Amino acid sequence: MINVVKIGGSLLSLGSIDHILADFKRVLSKNKVILVHGGGKEVTEIAEKLGKKQTFIISASGIKSRYTDKETIEIYSMVMAGKISTEIVAQLQSIGISAIGLSGVDACLIKAERKKRLIIIDERGRKRIIEGGYTGKIISVNTKVLKMLLEAGFMPVVSPIAIGTEYEILNVDGDRAAAYIAGSIGAENIIFLTDVDGLFLEGKLVKHLSLNEAKRIMKKVGHGMDKKILAAIEAIELGAKRCIISSGKREFPITYALEGEEKTVIEK
Ligand SMILES: Nc1ncnc2c1ncn2[C@@H]1O[C@H](COP(=O)(O)OP(=O)(O)O)[C@@H](O)[C@H]1O
Ligand SMILES: [Mg+2]
Repeated sequence: MINVVKIGGSLLSLGSIDHILADFKRVLSKNKVILVHGGGKEVTEIAEKLGKKQTFIISASGIKSRYTDKETIEIYSMVMAGKISTEIVAQLQSIGISAIGLSGVDACLIKAERKKRLIIIDERGRKRIIEGGYTGKIISVNTKVLKMLLEAGFMPVVSPIAIGTEYEILNVDGDRAAAYIAGSIGAENIIFLTDVDGLFLEGKLVKHLSLNEAKRIMKKVGHGMDKKILAAIEAIELGAKRCIISSGKREFPITYALEGEEKTVIEK
């Protein structure tokens, strides 16, 4: 059984993720795991230390994302693949897990099409078209290389960076990257570990959602969680069996995501 686990940047910025990585050891005895990490907050912090102010835009469908110009994509890949992934891989090795860090550029793991223009909603609520910069829409995942690594006993740790059709380095959203990987490889579960128990609507935790219900409630979900719902829909439509959104703050977060009650499950 293949599980894709995405660790949100929200958890990385809380401090230690030792308890999450340690829990992989239990889960790995029965399952194969591909880890995808986030880290947007750290990208912003380091960019600003380097004197590069980050700006965020809202797309026509209401999704918030980083505006990625040339300098920003350089900092983004430095922090994501250079720092965050390397640190996670080192930590996994220290507990005896053979992890291997890959960005979407390695072996063309994640191919994307550069968005040449973006339709955004400006501060006054009006639609505007701007230059796309270096963000991509994912078009394919090299599942062959992932399967090969899993078969050989490695745990892939994937940074949300893609390679464009003209070999540009592109920023892709971590949730969507995890979704595309999970869908393409036909994962049993895609687990989003984040800083809340799951999706809340009207103050209550939503424990189950069908694919159609997920599509219907999309507009009611706030920034951050909206991308996970969108990614869940994408993953299931591409071929993943189930999406679980659960807290990464619990003692055994992956075991809990698989066996616990207080979480959100999205299935066909
Ligand atoms: N309806 C909702 N239910 C739960 N969380 C929500 C909702 N709307 C917005 N959020 C926000 O989404 C956040 C999780 O997304 P995000 O901050 O991007 O985390 P991650 O780093 O794990 O991707 C939560 O901390 C919460 O503030
Ligand atoms: Mg997020």
